Amino acid sequence: MAPTSSPTPEETQLAERAAALRAQLNHHAHLYYVLDAPALPDAEYDKLFQELQAIEAAHPALLTPDSPTQRVIGAVLPDLIPVHHVVPMLSITTETDTTEGGAIAFDARVRRELGLKEGDPPVDYNAELKFDGLAINLRYENGKLVQAATRGDGETGEDVTHNVRTIGEIPRRLKGDAPPVLEVRGEVYMRRDAFEALNERLRSKGEKTFVNPRNTAAGTIRQLDSRQARDKPLSFYAYGLGDVQGWALPATQSGLLDALAAFGLPVNEMRTVASGTAGLVAFHQRVAEARDGLPFDIDGVVYKVNSRELQQTLGFKTREPRWAVAHKYPAQEQVTTLLSIDVQVGRTGKLTPVARLDPVFVGGTTVSNATLHNIFEMRRKGVRVGDKVIIRRAGDVIPEVVGRVPGARAGYVPNFRMPRACPICKSEATREKGGIEYRCTGGVFCPAQRKQAMLHFAGRRAMDIEGLGDKLVEQLVDAGIVQSLPGLYKLGVAKLAALDRMAEKSAQNIVDALEKSKAPTLARFLFSLGIRQIGETTAKDLARHFGTLDKLMKASVEQLLEVPDVGPIVAASVHTFFAQPHNREVVEQLLAAGVQPKESAGEADDRPRPLLGKTLVLTGTLPTWSRDEAKDAIEAAGGKVSSSVSKKTHYVVAGEEAGSKLDKARELGVEVIDEAALRALLA
Ligand code: IVH
Repeated sequence: MAPTSSPTPEETQLAERAAALRAQLNHHAHLYYVLDAPALPDAEYDKLFQELQAIEAAHPALLTPDSPTQRVIGAVLPDLIPVHHVVPMLSITTETDTTEGGAIAFDARVRRELGLKEGDPPVDYNAELKFDGLAINLRYENGKLVQAATRGDGETGEDVTHNVRTIGEIPRRLKGDAPPVLEVRGEVYMRRDAFEALNERLRSKGEKTFVNPRNTAAGTIRQLDSRQARDKPLSFYAYGLGDVQGWALPATQSGLLDALAAFGLPVNEMRTVASGTAGLVAFHQRVAEARDGLPFDIDGVVYKVNSRELQQTLGFKTREPRWAVAHKYPAQEQVTTLLSIDVQVGRTGKLTPVARLDPVFVGGTTVSNATLHNIFEMRRKGVRVGDKVIIRRAGDVIPEVVGRVPGARAGYVPNFRMPRACPICKSEATREKGGIEYRCTGGVFCPAQRKQAMLHFAGRRAMDIEGLGDKLVEQLVDAGIVQSLPGLYKLGVAKLAALDRMAEKSAQNIVDALEKSKAPTLARFLFSLGIRQIGETTAKDLARHFGTLDKLMKASVEQLLEVPDVGPIVAASVHTFFAQPHNREVVEQLLAAGVQPKESAGEADDRPRPLLGKTLVLTGTLPTWSRDEAKDAIEAAGGKVSSSVSKKTHYVVAGEEAGSKLDKARELGVEVIDEAALRALLA
């Protein structure tokens, strides 16, 4: 028999440590997931978890089947559990007339049912957004969140408490004097930026993407494993009540929303008490204009008779309240026919398949082109020419083909193939091994890339050359008048005025705009060059660090890596760019043409930086500053501008019609200031 060696003292010590870690991790997982009372920050938990993993990896004998490293953390349920709603979750009548007629019809109906005469005063309504997500009932008992359930069939929903607990915006405990029972109803939704980021992440990995934020939110909330919900950030807005015990209800819907906000629940700010038809029509109009700029999808607005007493008088018509209506906007998804597929060349040579469509009215505009993203995504969606396809257009996002409508094809249609040559310059088109994107290898010799590079250079946040838009760039490049960026500065009034459809006056304006663009900040200049990986923020970081173009152009990879927030990929990109003779030539010619980037602050800068180390978030419309101006001012003072509010945010600068960011700031206790206070901070 082989002698079994007894464990060394070191091994005994490790075994004890592993056992202690397992006990600790199990204890904290129980506190977190079951008792909902975490006692350890996530990062600390992760540290312990990784220590245990490391021990087990090095000493497999110490691995036990019940180790927390071996099971899926989070409540994994065999099935969602049914929940009976104490108060049924009803839906509302939908007014499908998307013009103001919808508002007029509703007000007329309410007045008739209330027996009001023509001369009687207008009815007050609370006008709200109709969030495009899914309805949720949150049950609070003595101020503590005890259960969250979906709507289901209105009578019985499903218990999704485990996933709702991953939504940071939903308080687990209400603020103030909470009643014994308060059921809050509202919408769980996914913000557009979260949705885009999620899809972008999936797309870059070549994985299946989601169709729209609503489906993603609905799918996520019904997951059995709450870990799935954790990396798909959801949001919530409250808009109503379910079962309530021991609370004197506010007399109006607007008062109710104020009360819910005071309990710490997210309530959207874009709401108003609207008086009569005129008030409803104005709200419908105002929201229609704001719709694309909102950070989340809405599919309409909701009008509710404001007075609770009048609501009771009106009552219900079978399953729907007579006192509320949903007034829709044009849908953000539509079906149309895919006529053909073109390939577009981007600034960096990326080839993108673009769908040419039978024009369709979607999300408020007519769309005839939509992106198909990449060949792999197309294949996965099974889209072919002639198919009926679903187009989505929401906000400022480029319209996209999200899928095909199932159905037979009339005949055989071959699968689309990416061209092996650039459709514009015929250079070879290649794809990195295992990569997803095809690229034209033509570089600046490719007119398409040149055009895109020029448009980027002239862009508002780059050199800001007004009047130099796609039509003009197209003409200039196609006619061979301008071959490269420096060539733009050789344009004279005569040459421009000789172009088709170009008046002398417009030609002069462009020449003036070019002249005006010659003194950019170093950051803008860097950004305008279109160096891969260099967005506005990185350009600013580089400008601040190096101070002059000369120093930056001479920087080694090591020196570039010293810039805060610059990693190896960015450093390599900048270094490679300036190492190429033709890029250096472009820069030199731009300087020779009179472009003079303003030397930037640099390290030796001793200007005061009152906002150094501070993160600010802008929301709403400021009285005098535009978004960009406020951003520039904050950054010049050393501050950072972020797009979302977190505990790390120092100030939220709120203007007119500030939305969810303001709610979030209040919820997290982040200081909210106005433009005047911001100016005071900068002074
Ligand atoms: S009130 C009894 N207000 O739209 C009234 N609903 O049928 C109950 N929705 O499934 C609904 N935003 O999920 C109300 N501000 C809002 C809403 C809203 C979105 C959803 C809700 C419901 C559907 C209406």
